[in-house]
Amino acid sequence: MGSSQWRRARPVLFTITITFALFIFLRSSILTFRSSAFSQSDSYKLDHRSEILSKCAYTHAKPGPPPHFHARTQSDRYAENTKPVLVRNATIWTAANDGHEVLTGDLLMHRGVVIGDVPLSMIQQLKSENVNLEIVDAHGAWVTPGIVDLHSHIGVGSAPELDGTDDTNSYKAPILPWLRSIDALNTHDASYELAMAGGVTTAQILPGSADNIGGQAFIMKLRPTADRSPSSMLLEPPYTLNGSHFDRSLTPRWRHMNAYDITRLDSAWNFRAAYDHARKLRGIQDDFCAKAESGSWDDVAGKTFPEDLQWESLVDVLRGRVKLSVHCYEAVDLDGIVRLTNEFEFPVASFHHAGETYLVPELLKKTWGGTPAIALFASNFRKKREAYRGSEFAPRVLAEHGINVVTKSDHPVVNSRYLLHEAAQAHYYGLDPALALLSVTYTPATAMGMGHRIGMLKADVVIWSSHPLSLAATPTQVYIDGIPQLSLPGRHVAKGPTTSPRTSDFDSEKVAALKGALFVNVSGLYMRGGGSTGVVHVSEKVGSVGVEDGRLVCVGQCSDFAEGAVDIVDLEGGTITPGLTSFGTPLGLMEIRLEPSTNDGSVYNLLDEDLPAVLGDKVVRAQDGLMFGGQNLLLAYRGGVTTAITAPSGTFLRGISTAFSPGAVHARVESASIVGEVALHVGISMSSRIGVSTQVAALRNMLFGESGDEVLRSVRKGQTTLVLDVESADIMATLLRLKNEYEAHSGRELHLTFAGATEAHLLAHEIARAGVSVIVTQSKPYPSTWEQRRLLAGPPITQESLVTALLKAGVNVAIGVIDEYNARNTRFEVGWSLLTSNGTIDRTTALALATTNLEKALGVQREMPQDLVAYRGGDVFEFEAKVVGVISETLGRTDLFV
Ligand SMILES: *[C@@H]1O[C@H](CO)[C@@H](O)[C@H](O)[C@H]1NC(C)=O
Ligand SMILES: *[C@@H]1O[C@H](CO)[C@@H](O)[C@H](O)[C@H]1NC(C)=O
Ligand SMILES: *[C@@H]1O[C@H](CO)[C@@H](O)[C@H](O)[C@H]1NC(C)=O
Ligand SMILES: *[C@@H]1O[C@H](CO)[C@@H](O)[C@H](O)[C@H]1NC(C)=O
Repeated sequence: MGSSQWRRARPVLFTITITFALFIFLRSSILTFRSSAFSQSDSYKLDHRSEILSKCAYTHAKPGPPPHFHARTQSDRYAENTKPVLVRNATIWTAANDGHEVLTGDLLMHRGVVIGDVPLSMIQQLKSENVNLEIVDAHGAWVTPGIVDLHSHIGVGSAPELDGTDDTNSYKAPILPWLRSIDALNTHDASYELAMAGGVTTAQILPGSADNIGGQAFIMKLRPTADRSPSSMLLEPPYTLNGSHFDRSLTPRWRHMNAYDITRLDSAWNFRAAYDHARKLRGIQDDFCAKAESGSWDDVAGKTFPEDLQWESLVDVLRGRVKLSVHCYEAVDLDGIVRLTNEFEFPVASFHHAGETYLVPELLKKTWGGTPAIALFASNFRKKREAYRGSEFAPRVLAEHGINVVTKSDHPVVNSRYLLHEAAQAHYYGLDPALALLSVTYTPATAMGMGHRIGMLKADVVIWSSHPLSLAATPTQVYIDGIPQLSLPGRHVAKGPTTSPRTSDFDSEKVAALKGALFVNVSGLYMRGGGSTGVVHVSEKVGSVGVEDGRLVCVGQCSDFAEGAVDIVDLEGGTITPGLTSFGTPLGLMEIRLEPSTNDGSVYNLLDEDLPAVLGDKVVRAQDGLMFGGQNLLLAYRGGVTTAITAPSGTFLRGISTAFSPGAVHARVESASIVGEVALHVGISMSSRIGVSTQVAALRNMLFGESGDEVLRSVRKGQTTLVLDVESADIMATLLRLKNEYEAHSGRELHLTFAGATEAHLLAHEIARAGVSVIVTQSKPYPSTWEQRRLLAGPPITQESLVTALLKAGVNVAIGVIDEYNARNTRFEVGWSLLTSNGTIDRTTALALATTNLEKALGVQREMPQDLVAYRGGDVFEFEAKVVGVISETLGRTDLFV
């Protein structure tokens, strides 16, 4: 019933249509309860009574682990013939004692459960039983419980994304508590293997956030099962999985649901109407049971236990048996949900995204039933209005208010494989290390009601290459239910630091622009100019560096300089290195991605739209659309990015990129622009509505023709670089052929660069031979699209990453990033490549990846300014370091953030 109305809902009339439909629906289904309740008048048979009593008893039962769960010696998920594994000499972070317990010793995985503090007798017994005991020597490596992702869409929004695999959302109505993510779980999602390679062992699969109540979530372990079915991947699914007939004498299991607060006025009413409906049903059930349980059988004669498959899950929310995840960002929305929980008296397990929670901690504590856990990104903010005020300091602030903090992936928004990196970033911005590790283990496990099974060392174990909060910590082995998941354990993983990174002090960050300053206790100085990479290591143990008007005036011997009244900044052994160049994001052209009024907007698609005549054959120039003073620019600058190179946004012929200083106040500042016109950008993609061969034909026509904007002529003459956004190896092969054709035809060299280039490793040598540069914009690869599916996963799955494979082949390689929020993290992206390269990349090369190599790839011809960045406490590529100064030759000043 009512379904035809849902189906009729058109997106344009979404809210109104749906609210109306909901109203009709609620009225008629309440009537249904009344009429169906009376059918016969004869007294009930005894077995019928006992069924009613068992259903009534079940309405009072509280979910949790079954009795004696903790005494189990074998997991219900144990797979036959799994060898027991003894991990020796590990540094074991157990998650116990509020995340402070670290033990040194051995642990045993046997029959799908972990046994710590292994008694010798047990080992002897296993040996005597002739069990094939596998012994792994951890050599002191860190071991943690498997990583738990509280918010993932693995399997429902699969990679590579195909029209036939996106089952994240239903668009039929805003209130859909009866839908279930399990019904859409694709077992072929490429993300399972990748996520496990990051140590993720369990994820809560939420339906998407297009609806107010998107449906029921399910918890799954990511490992493949013998059954190969989605159901067999579930962890402790509720009995309602199979319908309403189950043994009600069992302890109920936790259920899970997702709710989202979207368009405010209507959303609030949608929620209230739905909960009101569920509350009525619960009332009818409770009245019925009160009569049955008091033996007044005549009062319920002829009636059945009042049930409704569509609303039973929401009734369970009201009965406190659902771990509700609420996707909610702003103070106004949090306030509305907190009011809702008090009006209808139901608990919330976790608020997700929750960008403004750090602004309203006291409000969160007013949630009915207790303060929810808060599930956050570390630095993925500002994509939409709701996320604009997100803060990297939120985890720390919330923790200081005693609120449980979770870091989550919202996979594929953040690739689940790097979930631990979210926790590590939260730690970088001040979250206590124990809480940071708990934020991806025990805290999400308890927010799911699964603390008895996961989040501690119960069943899933990860051995790490370095301290788990250090940059680029990588698993050397991952065990799920005691089963190893990496086929070449440790083979591709270089060891890293074994201690937790010391974090910087962000407590007071004064910002000052100065004429001169003296940096003392500088351990290393790197500068542009010379060497094979264009970046040189000037010296170690520098001591002091004096700067004036954005230039170095003395190195080492600065006593004369120090006599003047200059600000002195102690770098505490940190380094000064060239400011990084950021490429690949719409930095400066886009502030809030989903708010068109804050952005430059997209260029016309030449292949798909009627071009306005007034544009003529002009190509768009990014410089004309630059906007300064945005948050992403400011944070990139403070993150050590001193040059941004941005191309216009769009498909196929995008236009001409520009290089500028993210620290400038506006575009007319004389020095804001570094290079007005950098390169010409064209995208060739299988994801376009226009065929690839048509796109290539158009490009060929542009190259071989005579007409067009002067930039085209400059590309034809080999004076301007043509940067091609391309992912597929096959398209790259075609473009290399086109380059040959053009060069043979014109007798001129065509300067080509591939950007993106996820599959470039497949033809690394051909690319090197053709003298084509590659800008890797996903140094942490992910197969979002089909044309990226043959990616090189990198350690621990493969030895080489795309960056090292291309470097090895002799390609000029650079690193870019895609998301504007992430431009500030460029140094961590490069650091990740450096630290997982097992020494095949050195520091000057790493610096070149995001400076000189990048500028070369883009065909920048001028000598770039000597903009330098001072890091306190460590090196540019380490979590230990914080940017405290930008010595900007471009802007003729030094900016301090100390
Ligand atoms: C554990 O590993 C560390 C690091 O390799 C080593 O120094 C230590 O001797 C080992 N301890 C035992 C008991 O094997
Ligand atoms: C659902 O039914 C299947 C058999 O069809 C059974 O193996 C499974 O344990 C049941 N799941 C639950 C949660 O009751
Ligand atoms: C790292 O490099 C060293 C020296 O080349 C080599 O012996 C070792 O096997 C490499 N380790 C990994 C994990 O690739
Ligand atoms: C430089 O900083 C390090 C780290 O804070 C400190 O240990 C060292 O004593 C400092 N050296 C000087 C000369 O101040």
